[in-house]
Amino acid sequence: MPDEQIYTTTDAGAPVSSDEHSLTVGAGGPIVLHDHYLIEQMAQFNRERIPERQPHAKGSGAFGSFEVTGDVSGYTSAAVFQPGTTTEMAARFSTVAGERGSPDTWRDPRGFALKFYTTEGVYDMVGNNTPVFFIKDPLKFQHFIRSQKRRADNNLRDHDMQWDFWSLSPESAHQVTWLMGDRGIPRTWRHMNGYSSHTYLWVNAEGVKHWVKYHFITDQGHQFFTQDEADQMASADTDYHTRDLFEHIDKGEFPSWTMKVQLMPFDDAAAYRFNPFDLTKVWPHGDYPLIEVGKMTLNENPTDHHTQIEQLAFEPNNLVPGIGLSPDRMLLARGFAYSDAHRYRIGVNYKQIPVNASKSPVHSYSKDGAMRVQAVSDPVYAPNSKGGPAATQAFQVDPGWAADGQIVRSAYVDHPEDDDFGQAGTLVREVLDDGERERLVDNIVGHLLNGVSEPVLGRAFEYWNRVDADLGKKIQEGVRAKADETDPKAADQGNPARSGMQEKA
Ligand code: HEM
Repeated sequence: MPDEQIYTTTDAGAPVSSDEHSLTVGAGGPIVLHDHYLIEQMAQFNRERIPERQPHAKGSGAFGSFEVTGDVSGYTSAAVFQPGTTTEMAARFSTVAGERGSPDTWRDPRGFALKFYTTEGVYDMVGNNTPVFFIKDPLKFQHFIRSQKRRADNNLRDHDMQWDFWSLSPESAHQVTWLMGDRGIPRTWRHMNGYSSHTYLWVNAEGVKHWVKYHFITDQGHQFFTQDEADQMASADTDYHTRDLFEHIDKGEFPSWTMKVQLMPFDDAAAYRFNPFDLTKVWPHGDYPLIEVGKMTLNENPTDHHTQIEQLAFEPNNLVPGIGLSPDRMLLARGFAYSDAHRYRIGVNYKQIPVNASKSPVHSYSKDGAMRVQAVSDPVYAPNSKGGPAATQAFQVDPGWAADGQIVRSAYVDHPEDDDFGQAGTLVREVLDDGERERLVDNIVGHLLNGVSEPVLGRAFEYWNRVDADLGKKIQEGVRAKADETDPKAADQGNPARSGMQEKA
């Protein structure tokens, strides 16, 4: 065998004598069961797929670093955010509702998940490209995601189902306004912002606490696709966003984002005009301005999508000293959901897969289990007198807050301006410009005309009226005009869009 030629082996490393021919009894005879190489190929192939992520199945990512450029040491003791620190990281971007092969340019929020390999353990920031979310109680999350995915009978996605859920969940109005606007289809992943959306807790070395929201502002500038452009791209290149990121990094054009935070003094929370832990609300920048922390740059592509991206496992409970959760009940529930998903999807020892593994030493007492590859050593219990690891209170771990009361199932206690439609209306009237408002109307009209029927349609009109009366009127007129245009006869014969209008009128 010439030295320079790498030869094929079995998975056990033994040389293989043919890449093309199975072992048979004579050239025309049957295959023999002891063709171990053939059996290995077939068996491995049958087990190549792991379950796709339940939400956020379609996505890709890259690697890079986070460099601190500001000074937030007065707010958090986290090593990753100390001045001058540079930390290796991984990022994965995704759509929410589509399956692994679905088009990148479907209208949907985009996942913006970051993993920082810090000197104090792995820190994950698992956010989206929008600063708010559709719901504020985790009990509704499973129902929400099912309404966005596929029906039971025909396995089709269904706008009627989507608007049924949204119009019966008024707290969704703010996020649906973002979704139906330009942010609902970023031009590329490089051209979108990322947000923690949730409020987290930061604690400094002296134990002083602040509530914090993260913003990752794209340095490439914000760009979007119109619905038509996105529809065309969905057929021209299903994987457009995946390709765009890979190709730009490959060419040395490294995308970057500037991380900024909003910081709220701990004691402001109780009396703030919005509930700061309500995931459907933002904190206006006038109340809590953006403070620069650093820059994240992605400069390295994956070389194996499966081991580095498909098995990349994010979880909001991967926290480090100086950073904690908040009373946001969505966030607290996410603290359970992700690690549970990983144990099912990848296996109990998923944190030993290199892309998920801490780059700082691990001294936990976890032991054994399927696919464990790192050896453990005695003692295997704590407390012990055998020199095993011992917990320390030298770090700001588990920062908390006061909580007391009866155990109840209840909505949040409202703060003065906590209605469901107020911030959505402000977004429409004060943040969007004329062009953005026009596209918002067009996108909603197009979406509603695509299979939404009574009583959902009437409720959808009312929903938008409550966001903004003028917007609501334009949407209703738009649906009426287009319904008549496409099917004049249907106007009097139960066209769902038309009959919705009649009911409202
Ligand atoms: C993925 C649950 C809310 C962002 C997932 C996954 C689950 C899940 C089970 C799949 C994890 C996997 O298999 O790897 C939940 C629950 C929520 C919630 C129960 C609410 C109670 C949110 C919110 C955001 C978010 C509010 C953003 C602010 C993401 C992202 C991913 C994801 C970015 C994909 C992570 C990746 O790239 O691997 N979620 N989620 N989720 N979720 Fe959530």
